[in-house]
Amino acid sequence: MTASAQHSPAQLAQIAADVARLAGARILELRTRGVDVAAAKSSAVDIVTEADREAERLITAALLEARPEDGVVGEEGTGIEGTSGITWVIDPIDGTVNYLYNIPMYTVSIAATVPDALAYADGRRGIAAAVFNPSSDEIFTAFEGGGAQLNGIRISPTGNTELATSLVATGFGYTASRRAEQAEMASRLLPQVRDIRRLGSAANDLCMVASGRVDAYYEIGLKPWDYAAGALIATESGVAVIGKGDDEAPGEPFMFVAAPGVVEQLRSIVLGE
Ligand code: IPD
Repeated sequence: MTASAQHSPAQLAQIAADVARLAGARILELRTRGVDVAAAKSSAVDIVTEADREAERLITAALLEARPEDGVVGEEGTGIEGTSGITWVIDPIDGTVNYLYNIPMYTVSIAATVPDALAYADGRRGIAAAVFNPSSDEIFTAFEGGGAQLNGIRISPTGNTELATSLVATGFGYTASRRAEQAEMASRLLPQVRDIRRLGSAANDLCMVASGRVDAYYEIGLKPWDYAAGALIATESGVAVIGKGDDEAPGEPFMFVAAPGVVEQLRSIVLGE
């Protein structure tokens, strides 16, 4: 990759994909040597491994080599301000608990974002993205206006218009109080849908909706690195990504993702309205 401040969204998506593959190969290699918890974060079950840290360093260095004037924000603490207007939002391993247990469902998530006070709660909007699962060698990519792809082939959601027959993915946070709240939401929803899936990587969940592997997804408490790439891939596939209210941007407080029509029903039930 040559250093340049001038890249189209399509080229940014290519950079995201190249770097995600690089990091994915490394975390897979590190996995074969065994994994230990390096530290706990928000609670004893919210963990970080040395592989998360190494992959975040690798991704940051590769992105800045290609785009030295950009900023980078990462789950494991990277916070570099840029001057180009583009900030990369990265999760080196989304699904760290799966990684620890060697469940082959963890992803590298990389998004190029621009400031947008209205689109998402964190004030940034993805314009190019890649989510890579190194275990399955599947890479989801998108850039604004370009649709969403899996391994280079255009993907689309299921088109299910009924919540009652929808397969709904969700995730849970790491603190007991957040989980108690999420358990109540899930118990309201479960009797009213086909079934629920908890696969352990929010970035992957968003790509599952985009590619029709589930009908819908919701979660509360997501961080920007969990959703920045996946949310662009979901919107580019044609589904709606909404927040708690029509005037509240999706993001950390709430994120509901499904076909228009279904997404509002999902929100009402989860919120107990
Ligand atoms: C977590 C995963 C999980 C979601 C959590 C996230 P991490 O990210 O995406 O599916 O439910 O909210 O924190 O900790 O594995 O990077």
